[in-house]
Amino acid sequence: KRIVILISGRGSNMEAIVEACAAERWPAEVAAVISNRPDARGLQYAASRGIPTDTVDHRKYDTREAFDAELARVIDRHAPDLVVLAGFMRILTARFVEHYAGRLINIHPSLLPAFPGLHTHRRAIEAGCKLAGATVHFVTAELDHGPIIIQAVEPVHPTDTEDTLSQRILAKEHVIYPRAVRWIVRDELEVRNGIVTHREGE
Ligand code: GRF
Repeated sequence: KRIVILISGRGSNMEAIVEACAAERWPAEVAAVISNRPDARGLQYAASRGIPTDTVDHRKYDTREAFDAELARVIDRHAPDLVVLAGFMRILTARFVEHYAGRLINIHPSLLPAFPGLHTHRRAIEAGCKLAGATVHFVTAELDHGPIIIQAVEPVHPTDTEDTLSQRILAKEHVIYPRAVRWIVRDELEVRNGIVTHREGE
């Protein structure tokens, strides 16, 4: 299986996936890492691992449609079976999402369907949530919706700030995201009526 990972910045989830792919000998390879920002830190890590990198700078396109069309062209050069959004901070058009239907996944730092969108950790703290977490899901046209593959839960402490909570959740993202990708590249998932089940029951 060929995996293409899209990032916008640090790329720590991308790193976790690249490392798990090698360490667990998945029947897969990370074929490319693509960023919308030329200065995304994660690009250096990918290059250091010998992974092809590309940048499609959204600032050079007048419309979302034009950006997404070029992004899809660059992605498709790598013939991916799976496209992984890992801290990719652009909203994608319905047309783009349709093109990758069933092979496009995202990680979102909240327990969806709670808190779609930005500033999830702050919003969870402000809402007085006692539990927060992260969700890996298939991407559909509606932002931060789509069939849920796996979630991780993290208690919110009374002393938590956006920073401390996001750090603990990020550590769990690095566990669940590689696991979700592994399930997909090993063909272990079933999706029926928008409900995802893992065949091995792990
Ligand atoms: C993660 O918290 C992810 O859930 C969110 O953006 C952050 C990306 O971090 N969408 P990284 O680039 O993977 O380090």
